[in-house]
Amino acid sequence: MAVKIKTLSGYFHEYQKSIVKTEDFWQQQAEDFYWRKKCDCVLDWNFKEPKIEWFKGGKLNITENIFERQMFIRKDQAAIIWEPNDPKEEGVTLSYSELFYKVKQFANVLLSKGVKKGDRVALYMPMIPELAIAMLACARIGAIHSIIFAGFSSTALADRIIDAQAKVVIASDGGFRGNKTTPIKTIVDEAVGKCDSVETLIIKKRTGDQVLMKEGRDFWWDELCENVSAENEAEVMDAEDPLFILYTSGSTGQPKGVLHTTGGYMVYSSYTFRNVFQYSQGDVYFCSADIGWITGHSYIVYGPLLSGATTLMFEGIPTFPDAGRFWDIVEKHQVNQFYTAPTAIRALMAEGNEFVENKKMKSLKVLGTVGEPINEEAWHWYHDHVGKGRCPIVDTWWQTETGGIMISPIAGVTPTKPSYATLPLPGIHPIIVDAEGKELKGNSVEGNLCIKAPWPGMARTIYGDHERFRQTYFSTYQNLYFTGDGVRRDEDGYYRILGRVDDVINVSGHRMGTAEVENAINEHPRVVESAVVGFPHHIKGQGIFAFAVCNDMDETVTEEGIIQSIKVGVNNIIGPIARPDKILIVSGLPKTRSGKIMRRILRKIAAGDFENFGDTSTLLDPAVVEEIINKSKIH
Ligand code: PRX
Repeated sequence: MAVKIKTLSGYFHEYQKSIVKTEDFWQQQAEDFYWRKKCDCVLDWNFKEPKIEWFKGGKLNITENIFERQMFIRKDQAAIIWEPNDPKEEGVTLSYSELFYKVKQFANVLLSKGVKKGDRVALYMPMIPELAIAMLACARIGAIHSIIFAGFSSTALADRIIDAQAKVVIASDGGFRGNKTTPIKTIVDEAVGKCDSVETLIIKKRTGDQVLMKEGRDFWWDELCENVSAENEAEVMDAEDPLFILYTSGSTGQPKGVLHTTGGYMVYSSYTFRNVFQYSQGDVYFCSADIGWITGHSYIVYGPLLSGATTLMFEGIPTFPDAGRFWDIVEKHQVNQFYTAPTAIRALMAEGNEFVENKKMKSLKVLGTVGEPINEEAWHWYHDHVGKGRCPIVDTWWQTETGGIMISPIAGVTPTKPSYATLPLPGIHPIIVDAEGKELKGNSVEGNLCIKAPWPGMARTIYGDHERFRQTYFSTYQNLYFTGDGVRRDEDGYYRILGRVDDVINVSGHRMGTAEVENAINEHPRVVESAVVGFPHHIKGQGIFAFAVCNDMDETVTEEGIIQSIKVGVNNIIGPIARPDKILIVSGLPKTRSGKIMRRILRKIAAGDFENFGDTSTLLDPAVVEEIINKSKIH
């Protein structure tokens, strides 16, 4: 693998080179990999259509780069260390050759079920090794995996299966999370009942719960694998053939199927992994994300395995059996790099230091955070109590759409500053613009974060809706990719992410579209309309605050009853992650004369700030605001 950046001057040198000669820079990174055929053209692009093609004409398979390319040196090395939910249960370690065997075998199972290159396969699974095996098996045969976080409801699952027209769904009987179990198969059955495209369900036994198996449609994973050969030749893919779809929320209602392709994503996820975390051979790397999100795709599975790393996969939650679980895992497996979300750090910090103080964590070298801004208090706690003041913190800014880390310190190389993502990685050209799209040059500026030129890991489209892709990311500002985030560049040129500037809220590091939550609330028979905003929450970063206008408020119902049933409804339509923390029943919403909801005012009220609403001259009915303020003071 190409040399990693080791010094700050080395970083500046690489960065300069990468910006001046971007194509040469990425071509050089691509040379680390095994291509069945080298590309004809490194980059072909415009942000107008948009069209983004990296390594065009190149032929490869990403799993050949994980396995065949590395097998000679890594055969017996641990690829995945799996730590179960219950610490009393024995874990599993799969070497590169064992993982390879299982991937090829399951690839053959998928082929036997008629899955072909380009078909979509939905995965709805707990964090068990078979999740990684199934996704790599899809990649092996050129099927497009669409992983849906197993906390989503059956309705949300069905929406995603239908949008992708998945042919096969891979799931488990149930899943363990802390002292709870999730009835995964039952949820899948409910969802699949609405999805005509699904022909086959493959179920891995995990909890042993009784489940219904539909004859001819549902099959047990283990039975299908019996007597199946592990001889499998990888499907040859074009660099721009799709690798996966991953749904994410945006400011409009329906979730978007972000599509990533093969060659560029491979180069980018591996390059960023090796450099940001400064992974050295023999290290044990632990990312606590769920593979159902992009962090798990890029930095539990693809980035680490492409880099020959040992990656730890954890099934459970940070507070089971107690708030010291992460640190027990670090101690048990002598973890060297640990990557988590600020919300987890805040939750563990709130439990007290006794859970972290006596753990033997000398192995730790690097700590990472991702998903939301990290407040200074949490940063310092992480630094002092987990890293014992010795480990650099990499505050990594990126998105589902970027495929990999974009702005981040390089561990031990870039001097850090609490709550700053610091500097762009090589090959990344961020620019800050004002509302009109004028570039704000120099330091000490604040505005909207855009990226000027393509990078190999970026999303190529929204599955089935290229126009929406253009509209969402490339139409706000001409010839720029718009991230949706606000940012400040300080006097040192360091970037600090300020949070979303669109109608997206970030709850515990999970992206939620306000419109998506509103749509779910509006399904309630008594709700006429609603508005959802984020408010500061000490653990989740942002909480969900919903204002709902209801009709037929008679003596048969109480406000509390309606609030509870709205919460249940949102739970059923999206999942627990979207359940509002607070709901206020109001008689009207603040609107402009043209009928637009003034969210700015609602955000202030939700944050407990009842003054300084700014310009309210366009407000149709000021009495509505008075009423909301008075009511929220009581609740
Ligand atoms: O607002 C930014 C925030 O998370 C958004 C992306 O969410 P998602 O696509 O779900 O991906 C999360 C994991 C990569 C961004 O637009 N975000 C992500 N990382 C950071 C962050 N905000 C501040 N600091 C970060 N390090």
